[in-house]
Amino acid sequence: MDKNPSNYSAVDNSDNPSHWIELMLDFPAIAPEVNRIRQQLLDWLVPAVDGSDSHMTILDAGCGPGVTTQAIADRVDDNIEIIGADLSQSMVDYASAHSTHHNVRYHKACLKDLPYSDGSIDVIRVERCLHHVPGVSQAFKEFQRVLKPGGRLVINEPDVRYICMHPLQPAVNVRYAAAYDAPIANGAVGAYLPEYLNANGFDLLEHQPHLLMMKSAHAIDRCFNALEVFRDLCKKDQNPANLSKVEDAIDGNSFYLTIPCYSVMGEKHA
Ligand SMILES: C[S@@+](CC[C@H](N)C(=O)[O-])C[C@H]1O[C@@H](n2cnc3c(N)ncnc32)[C@H](O)[C@@H]1O
Repeated sequence: MDKNPSNYSAVDNSDNPSHWIELMLDFPAIAPEVNRIRQQLLDWLVPAVDGSDSHMTILDAGCGPGVTTQAIADRVDDNIEIIGADLSQSMVDYASAHSTHHNVRYHKACLKDLPYSDGSIDVIRVERCLHHVPGVSQAFKEFQRVLKPGGRLVINEPDVRYICMHPLQPAVNVRYAAAYDAPIANGAVGAYLPEYLNANGFDLLEHQPHLLMMKSAHAIDRCFNALEVFRDLCKKDQNPANLSKVEDAIDGNSFYLTIPCYSVMGEKHA
């Protein structure tokens, strides 16, 4: 099966869309920092809607199987409208079938062409989606368009240029990271979130780093194709020593992989 991580931009066209859905469901167990990131994004977005009498709408943009959309619904009043939007019909179908809240609905939509009117959304939340979107600036323009003045945008994205396998030497990791990043539309977007906010009419209110750490080699390979990319690189280099180093670490339970991620909270200019 094709496990290329860039295929999150075309889940429906893959030979097994359920593979990608299952990976999303398992991801917090593979990379536990994801739970802290989700908590942080919730802590940032909830105060923007809490206790308001007026009609409010939250958009979970690139919602995948809807786990985070449901988590928002668990935290806010049930008179708040919550929308999950994703490019993949398979993700939207799964999320709709598992929805447990009357105020949540899901739409198939591209972040670069959102089917919502100008100034109609109060809060947008995005997690690990923008790095799969080619021409990502257009998504920020759409966030700016659909948010109300003063509306809130919370995002977490990785910078895969610094994916790192321990115990490899830095020079090998730099080349490995470049090979891993190559097929991903915007692997570095996490590092540039403040610039995107600034260029699209947002004030940056919060900016926090996170480090995803993954220890299960099996889960990493299943999830990201990360070891396969590395095996290919070692083959190309005709350098089996680096591969043995990683395999020995896996056998000795000392292997781990890290990816830096960044969270931002922005506010659209009034
Ligand atoms: C890595 S998953 C993350 C899903 C979800 N945010 C989560 O944390 O569980 C990336 C998601 O982005 C969606 N996606 C990719 N390109 C998109 C686009 N242009 N517009 C909307 N969604 C997109 C994929 O279908 C996939 O569900």
